[in-house]
Amino acid sequence: MRLHCDTNLWTGPRRQISGLALSILLFSFSAVTTQAENKKPSSSQDGKYFDANGDPTYNIGPDDKVDWYTYSGYLRYSAECLRCHGPDGLGSSYAPSLVDSLKSIDYDQFMATVAQGKQDLSAGQEKVMPSLGLDKNVMCYIDDIYVYLKARSDGALSRDRPASHEPKPKSAKDAEDACMGPE
Ligand code: HEC
Repeated sequence: MRLHCDTNLWTGPRRQISGLALSILLFSFSAVTTQAENKKPSSSQDGKYFDANGDPTYNIGPDDKVDWYTYSGYLRYSAECLRCHGPDGLGSSYAPSLVDSLKSIDYDQFMATVAQGKQDLSAGQEKVMPSLGLDKNVMCYIDDIYVYLKARSDGALSRDRPASHEPKPKSAKDAEDACMGPE
């Protein structure tokens, strides 16, 4: 009888602990894989990547090499948005962090805001997101800017200029020429 109790004392809790450890392990494993799956593009065409909704997304290789559009987006963001939204999408005293914004707004909302602009009309607010829908230097590269910011927002891309990138696809050059029109 006494021996029986001792055996239970030793095996019982131990079994529980390892069960708990196992479920923690399985839980964190599934959390990590879900995250990685979300970040993986669903499809690609000529070096441009798309998510499950068909919206443009980034692709970052195991060596941190980014796709062309993410790299281009970094350059275009820096030229067109940084002066208000701060370096690397992190926000400024004037305009919000787009790294944060893209956690809650989707591609369509992003496009609509950039094209139409936005103005916070709360008391004493004079901050204005300009309407950029007619600005070719923005709109011809808006997908690039979006995928760059999405990568930043997902935590897939660190600050500063991406160290290496895929070559510029011919289709990117063609689309750029068609969008920008004659000089
Ligand atoms: C002249 C300054 C200025 C420039 C340039 C600018 N923005 Fe903004 N942007 C703002 C301000 C200010 C807001 C906040 C407006 C508000 O909330 O009413 C804003 C808001 C936004 C929002 C909405 C964020 C949210 O959480 O709803 C997006 C998206 C955005 N900007 C994208 C861009 C992109 C992309 C560029 C570059 C192509 C850009 N902006 C250039 C000032 C600017």
